Amino acid sequence: MSATTLAPVPTGSSLPAALEGRTVVVVGGSSGIGLASATLLASVGARVALMARDEGRLSAAAESIRAASGSSVLTIAGDGTDEGALERAFEGLGRLDHVLVTAGGFAVGPLLSTPREQVGQVVDGRFWGTYGVARAAVPHLPPGGSITLSSGLYLNRPIPGASATIAAIGAVEGFTKALAVELAPLRLRVNALRYGVVDTPLSRGALGLADDASVAAAGQGAPLGRFATAEEAASAALFLMANNYMTGTVLSVDGGQSLV
Ligand SMILES: NC(=O)c1ccc[n+]([C@@H]2O[C@H](COP(=O)([O-])OP(=O)(O)OC[C@H]3O[C@@H](n4cnc5c(N)ncnc54)[C@H](OP(=O)(O)O)[C@@H]3O)[C@@H](O)[C@H]2O)c1
Repeated sequence: MSATTLAPVPTGSSLPAALEGRTVVVVGGSSGIGLASATLLASVGARVALMARDEGRLSAAAESIRAASGSSVLTIAGDGTDEGALERAFEGLGRLDHVLVTAGGFAVGPLLSTPREQVGQVVDGRFWGTYGVARAAVPHLPPGGSITLSSGLYLNRPIPGASATIAAIGAVEGFTKALAVELAPLRLRVNALRYGVVDTPLSRGALGLADDASVAAAGQGAPLGRFATAEEAASAALFLMANNYMTGTVLSVDGGQSLV
């Protein structure tokens, strides 16, 4: 069927319950926001597949979801920047409704002392990895299906010494909007989440926060008195997936951190 003859995007409940029975792949699902999203998705009855590179963390994540929800979870050990691996994974699922991408590294280094090779892998992974996920997913997504990407607060509140990674994050936001327009005739949706500091292994490592007490102390300076939980970030991802009228949106989940 050609795109121009497709019916409008389907209506339906915009509540997370509408994700029951849907198949969702979380690229970066073994930790942090991806794992919290997968756990929430399983709790509302979605069929979830986690993709990440480290097999040990992947099976531990799947086990933690099984323990929390009683649902079994599919695991795909692989690199989310490998378009071929993604194609094979999506093909093997039989059905695919939504994709969430939370994979993405953060490379730092001041401009003049940081040659391109030092940050190239992270920059490529962030942008071309996202591009490859979309290319692999689109042929499988039904009308109303969605792709949700990850961005971050540093795009509008940059820190010194991270220009390449921040530029790649900006590219992901630009891609979100451009692809939303391109895929709307297929009734597919593309959105991104722009996170403030979310309490995950990534942010704990980056900020040197060793335990819950240090996370709480560091979060006191945030407008709402703490950092986001991974579950709070995840619930925004489920909203974007479930609501069939959301596309081309970059939704901030930052507790007002971008305003101060
Ligand atoms: N946490 C924050 O405060 C914050 C703020 C702004 C933006 N963000 C962004 O939000 C996203 C999620 O962050 P997070 O804090 O949840 O990170 P996290 O806890 O480090 O989790 C990242 C997940 O992605 C997987 N991953 C990384 N590279 C991958 C690759 N090439 N292929 C497949 N899987 C890959 C990791 O597993 P493997 O390493 O085993 O593959 C892990 O499961 C990231 O893009 C991050 O930059 C986070």
